[in-house]
Amino acid sequence: MVSALALAFFFAKMSPEPRAASIPVLNIPRSDFPLRTESTFLLKEERIPESSLVFRDEIDLLALHRSGLLSLTLVDHHVLPSRDAALEEAVVEVIDHRPLERERGPPCKTTSELVGSCATLVTEKIFQYPVEVLDRTTAALLHGTIVLDCVNMAPEAGKVTPKDVQFAGLLESKFPDLAPRSVIYEALQKAKFDVSGLTTDQMLRKDLKAVSGKEAVIALSSVYVTLQDFLRRPAVEEDLRAFCQQRGYDALVVMAISFNERNEPFRQLAVYSQQGTLRTAVCQSLEASSNPSLHLSPLESPHPTIHAYAQGNATASRKKVLPIVRDFLRDWGRGGTMQPCRKTRAEPVEASPSGTDSRPPERGAAGRKDAPKAQRLGDDLLGDEDALLPPTPMNSLVDECPLDQGLPKLSAEAVFEKFNRIAVARSCEDSPEKK
Ligand SMILES: *[C@@H]1O[C@H](CO)[C@@H](O)[C@H](O)[C@H]1NC(C)=O
Repeated sequence: MVSALALAFFFAKMSPEPRAASIPVLNIPRSDFPLRTESTFLLKEERIPESSLVFRDEIDLLALHRSGLLSLTLVDHHVLPSRDAALEEAVVEVIDHRPLERERGPPCKTTSELVGSCATLVTEKIFQYPVEVLDRTTAALLHGTIVLDCVNMAPEAGKVTPKDVQFAGLLESKFPDLAPRSVIYEALQKAKFDVSGLTTDQMLRKDLKAVSGKEAVIALSSVYVTLQDFLRRPAVEEDLRAFCQQRGYDALVVMAISFNERNEPFRQLAVYSQQGTLRTAVCQSLEASSNPSLHLSPLESPHPTIHAYAQGNATASRKKVLPIVRDFLRDWGRGGTMQPCRKTRAEPVEASPSGTDSRPPERGAAGRKDAPKAQRLGDDLLGDEDALLPPTPMNSLVDECPLDQGLPKLSAEAVFEKFNRIAVARSCEDSPEKK
């Protein structure tokens, strides 16, 4: 977000084309903005009103492109999701700090360097120009972002590179009144986990994954409050029901993470479903899990559709719980007395050898949108609550990988499986007896 804002500001000042408008487009719908609590905090600190921002659902990029008016610069990502494929020809420049998955030839300019923060590359670009374009507000945004992305420039966190240090330092020397790194880092880190201002729906959406099986879709959501506080929210049961209904989830596992006085994580877990059989079965599989063992002990719950637990094993993060749920879904509905009376759904996405998602269409758009997140690997996991080091904020505002939208929906597993089969097939072809 900051990379886009700073770069558009720079373009606006430097553009040789006076009639061009440089617009930072934040690639999320406006309704998702409150979920980025660290972003809302930083922009508020720098007195940038939310009303001045332009979100992806407020500008018709495709129409601009069709009128020949669009030049697109991608920052902090470089692969357009497939539903944006039509915008591909409009991409004139890419600035990204992750390994390039695809190359664009000239005339597209590409800046790609594996630094800790994309804001470092934007800062470098701005400083390449002799004219002083940077103002204090933009400098503070870039500085805060670099410090947060680079985990307070701590080498132990494995994010920071010499270039990040160099440009954070340069910003500090040009603007000596910037807040000290550790102060801004603490503040942003705190803001990231401050969900007090969010609605229950927003809290659940903030850190959400979903797994789909043949017969059910189960969502896992991490919330950064105690379970008691969460379950004490007014109308929580109605909110959970609406959340699941809107997104097509059959059950929801809420993983509450809070910290004790010694700053040790403390975990609790709630299982919600309107379907009693499913709810009980999910609870049983979580209680019975031995890989890992979660050491669940029941807590009081305000509502019969919600089962609450204290999780004795505090190290078992969502990364560990998700596979338990996935395994559960693999077996759920596979014949026997466990089978609920439901329509048969498609194969689980993860296990689907063809990689296509053929879940029935009645599962609305929202439900579809979230399901693939569960299978996504890579950067997302870095932004997970699992890293006990404070997670790096999701660097990209692009919440999807190119395969997430349209067909085919592939999971990492499916891809590996496919590649393995290709490899096996190849090695057969290559074998001398075949030749
Ligand atoms: C707790 O969970 C971890 C995985 O996060 C696992 O390695 C460990 O064995 C579990 N502890 C117990 C006592 O079961």
